[in-house]
Amino acid sequence: MKSIAIDGPAGAGKSTIARLVAERLNFIYVDSGALYRTVALAVKQKGILVVPVQLQQIFSEIQIEMCYIDGLQHMFLDGVDVSDRIRSSEISQLTSQIAQLKVVREYLFSCQQKMAQEHDVVMDGRDIGTEILPNANVKIFLTATAQERAQRRYKQLLESKTIKTLEEVLQEVKQRDENDYNRAVSPLRQAEDAILVDTSDMTLEESVDFILDVISKKLA
Ligand code: CDP
Repeated sequence: MKSIAIDGPAGAGKSTIARLVAERLNFIYVDSGALYRTVALAVKQKGILVVPVQLQQIFSEIQIEMCYIDGLQHMFLDGVDVSDRIRSSEISQLTSQIAQLKVVREYLFSCQQKMAQEHDVVMDGRDIGTEILPNANVKIFLTATAQERAQRRYKQLLESKTIKTLEEVLQEVKQRDENDYNRAVSPLRQAEDAILVDTSDMTLEESVDFILDVISKKLA
């Protein structure tokens, strides 16, 4: 099986780029962030505190499933499709809190590895190249300036009719960067053998073409 790991901070364009790259390669796109987001939604619904004992407890009570419908990854929590619900700003912030805990990362570890054992995958996240798939065939670290990433997120939120100022979105992006880069367990960092791609001045198409080019050279 072949695997492509794409890591990077919030709003760098990972999910859109990873999905398009996977489509072009005929690989499965695995959005690992969606798994963490579903755990965050479960935490919110159960109204529990973000502490290891309480999380350990809910893992025995909830069922998280990942399914592909018409080629798109859907997340199910206790049998309910929550793919849209996990995308709110509130869940984004809660996700970056729960993702700091070892108990959560351990809970989701095998599910991510299993996907890559059974399929050719493009998997995006924060620790894919460093922890989940250290032997990935190609590792990309995708980044862009915080200002540019906030702009992109702001545009997405406008489309979903969420009312927030650009300044608020920038603060949220910075807060998540702070959490993701500085946590003790599996922090966001570029793997030594990852290729750094800064998309600040690239269009989506340019980023996809650039990455496909890197991949085809590496896989050749
Ligand atoms: O798409 P976006 O970059 O906004 O976020 P995401 O990939 O859906 O991830 C949401 C949050 O989950 C991140 O801010 C991380 O805190 C966490 N996450 C993680 O810790 N490890 C991963 N492999 C994926 C996501």
